[in-house]
Amino acid sequence: MQRDYSLTGPESQRAIERGLADADWYRPPLDSDRLRQLMDRRNGRTAAHTLLWLALLVGAGVLAYRSLGSFWAVPTFAVYGALYGGSADPRWHENGHGTAFRSRSANDAVYYLASFMLLREPTLWRWSHVRHHSDTIIVGRDPEIVFPRPPRLRTILPNYLHIFNGPAMLKRMVAHAFGRIDGDTRDFVPADDLRRVVWEARIFVALLSSTVAWSLVTWSIVPLLFIGLPSFYGVWWLWFFGMTQHAGLREDVLDHRLNTRTIYMNPVFRFLYLNMNYHTEHHMFPSVPYHALPALHDELKSFLPEPYPSTWSAYREIIPTLLKQRRDPTYDIADRVIPDGGTIATSICVADHDSSVDLGAVSDLDVGGIRRVDLGDRTFLLCRYADDGFALTDGLCTHGRTHLADGFLDGCEIECPKHNGRFDLRTGEPLRRPATVRLTRHRVEIINCRIVGTIEP
Ligand code: FES
Repeated sequence: MQRDYSLTGPESQRAIERGLADADWYRPPLDSDRLRQLMDRRNGRTAAHTLLWLALLVGAGVLAYRSLGSFWAVPTFAVYGALYGGSADPRWHENGHGTAFRSRSANDAVYYLASFMLLREPTLWRWSHVRHHSDTIIVGRDPEIVFPRPPRLRTILPNYLHIFNGPAMLKRMVAHAFGRIDGDTRDFVPADDLRRVVWEARIFVALLSSTVAWSLVTWSIVPLLFIGLPSFYGVWWLWFFGMTQHAGLREDVLDHRLNTRTIYMNPVFRFLYLNMNYHTEHHMFPSVPYHALPALHDELKSFLPEPYPSTWSAYREIIPTLLKQRRDPTYDIADRVIPDGGTIATSICVADHDSSVDLGAVSDLDVGGIRRVDLGDRTFLLCRYADDGFALTDGLCTHGRTHLADGFLDGCEIECPKHNGRFDLRTGEPLRRPATVRLTRHRVEIINCRIVGTIEP
C-alpha cells in the first residue's frame, strides 16, 4: 500500500509522534579542531571552479549555436543542457548551503542563477532543503523524497527529461506568482517568507515568459533552446547523479549511514557533481564545503559503510532494489554493514550555576576559539572572535536544537552546523536563513586575565 508522502497528511503526525521530526541524528566522533579546519571556506578556489563551469557552459552553447541545422546540434545541445539543467544542481545546492564561497553575496548570486536554471523557486527550495536535512527520508516530513514506495517506475524514465516534474514545478510557480500558496509549501516555508516566494515566482515567470515571447516574435525555437528548455532536456544529468543519493534506501531512520550513499567517482564526475558523491558525509556535517569532503571522508570512513566503488556499482544496487520495492514496498537492502561507535564530539566546560561565572583564563582561548559551556541545565557558547572580542551566547541555535559550539566561526559570525544559519556574535542578530530569531547574548568581561560571564536569567 502506498504511504502518504504529503507533508500535511497522517504520516506527518505519525512521524512527530514517533520522535522522528527534528530529531537528533547519529554523528561519528570528530575532533572539533579538525572539524573547524575542514569547515574553512575559500573564495578563490570556488571562483575558479564556478568560472570553469560557466566557461564550459558558454563554450558548449557557442558550439551548439554554430551546429544548428546539422547533426552536430544533437550532441552539442546535449552537453549544453547537461551543464545547464544538470550541473547547475550541485552549484545550487552548495551555494544554497552557503558553503561554496566565503562571501555571502557570491553564494547568493550563484544560488539564484542556478535556481532559475533548474526552475526552482529560491526561497521555497531553500526551506525545502532545510527540512530535507532535518528529516532526511522521513515520510510525511521530507519534501524531497524522490522515490516514494512503491516506486512509480513509469515516471522515472520520463523524468530524466522532466516530463512530469517540470510541468508540475512550472504549474506551482505560476500559482505562486498569482499568490496561491499550496499546503505543502505553507508547511515548511515560514509565513513571513511567503511574500518573498510570491515575488520570486513572479520574476521567474516573467523571465521565462519573455523567452517564450522572444521565440514567438522571431518565430524560432532557438531562444528557448538556450533558456528554459535546457531545464528539461538537460535534467537527465541531474537525475543520473541525484538518483544515487538516497534511492531505495531506508525510510524513517535517524542514521544517514542507512539512508544515504557515499560513492567513489572519477575526477571529472566529481567536478561536475561538486563532490556530492560523498553524500553521507555531507549530510552528517553540512557545514563542511564541497572541496573538503574527500578529507572529511578520510576522517570518518571507519564509521561508515563500505563506499560504493563506482557509480555503476550504485546503480547495480538501485535498479534491482526499486524493482523489488515495486512488488514489496517494505523491502530494504539487508547487507549494509554499519560499524560501531559514534558520539557527538564537543568540548564541554562545566561550572557551578551562578549569575557570574569564571570561564577560564584568557590565554586558554585563542582567537578563533569556540567553547561549549554547560551550567546546570543550561548550555552556552563562548567564542573569541578577535584579540579583545569575546562573546557568550545561548548555546542552542534559535532555529533548532543544535549546539552552536559545533559550528563554524567566521570572523564575528557563528554558523550553525545543522542548516548553516548564521548569527552576528556582537549583536546576536540572525544574518542568514533559516535562522530568523535573535540569539540571546550574555555579558562577558575580562577581569585579572580571566574571562567572566554574567548569565541573564
Ligand atoms: S538548527 Fe537550523 S540553522 Fe541552526
